[in-house]
Amino acid sequence: MAELSGVRSGLLQVGERVTLSDAKGRRHSVVLTPGSTFHTTKGAISHDELIGQPEGIVIRSVGGAQYLAFRPLLEEFTVTMPRGAAVVYPKDAAHILVQTDIFPGARVLEAGAGSGALTMFLLRAVGSAGKVYSYERREEFAKIAQRNVETFFGAPHPAWTLRVGDVVADNGGEPVDRVVLDMLAPWECIEMVADVLVPGGLLCCYVATATQLGRTMDTLRVHGGFTEPVGREYTAREWHAEGLAIRPGHGTSGHTGFLIFTRRLAPGATAPLRKRRPAPGAYGPDYNGPRPAGVEASA
Ligand SMILES: C[S@@+](CC[C@H](N)C(=O)[O-])C[C@H]1O[C@@H](n2cnc3c(N)ncnc32)[C@H](O)[C@@H]1O
Repeated sequence: MAELSGVRSGLLQVGERVTLSDAKGRRHSVVLTPGSTFHTTKGAISHDELIGQPEGIVIRSVGGAQYLAFRPLLEEFTVTMPRGAAVVYPKDAAHILVQTDIFPGARVLEAGAGSGALTMFLLRAVGSAGKVYSYERREEFAKIAQRNVETFFGAPHPAWTLRVGDVVADNGGEPVDRVVLDMLAPWECIEMVADVLVPGGLLCCYVATATQLGRTMDTLRVHGGFTEPVGREYTAREWHAEGLAIRPGHGTSGHTGFLIFTRRLAPGATAPLRKRRPAPGAYGPDYNGPRPAGVEASA
């Protein structure tokens, strides 16, 4: 059976999504419909002029503006598709795939599915021999994710199981090689992750704020069944380079999120103790929560 990749070839067909880019690189996404028009500030573009044409053509609006027409790449599709919840940005998705070592055939648990952006990157990486179990507790978001995934791949993906429910309460209990959590409170899921993640398996948590980052990393340390977590932020900066005018571009994206990576230890194993003096204030007199092994109360 041919691998479902979402990549299409041949002439542009009715119902396909096409990205139109203007001379400044601004992108617009249209679904080709016979008789329809796409309205720009420089006049309309008829879909009929695109249907049946190859990708990579330049099309003119009625007012003479030029647009390049290409089928969207996965990263373009995920940022222009309909969304319920905020999506994982492509730069972060790329690092999630590499740092959690997602491989063809891997079994991956993901929550929440949100709009399905990360799901698509995961499905591409595991392929039809893999498994992606996605949990989403909001039914309306699950429907959006399902529609987006099926639109991109052109059919239901054989590796995908989407479950509407809470990833902890409604977990199917299947053993998995990798877990990726993109949600408000990943620290509430650490016990469940420890149950389903195979020894040596990797966990990635994607969070938006520094307080979520700290709480997730502290919970992982206190649990004790994981390696010392690594918290990281990735930035991507475009450069303008033309003649002697070489400088950072204006379109650089700002903060998107923090990524936390850790590995599951074997049952009963504890990571070599790293004795450390906590930072002033950390676990101090006001702190009532648990402390990781080896950390004393600070004065
Ligand atoms: C930021 S969105 C995920 C976006 C998604 N990764 C994407 O790229 O499209 C977070 C989602 O997690 C869901 N969520 C939060 N806690 C959950 C839980 N305990 N179980 C299942 N879904 C949960 C929310 O409903 C929300 O849709």
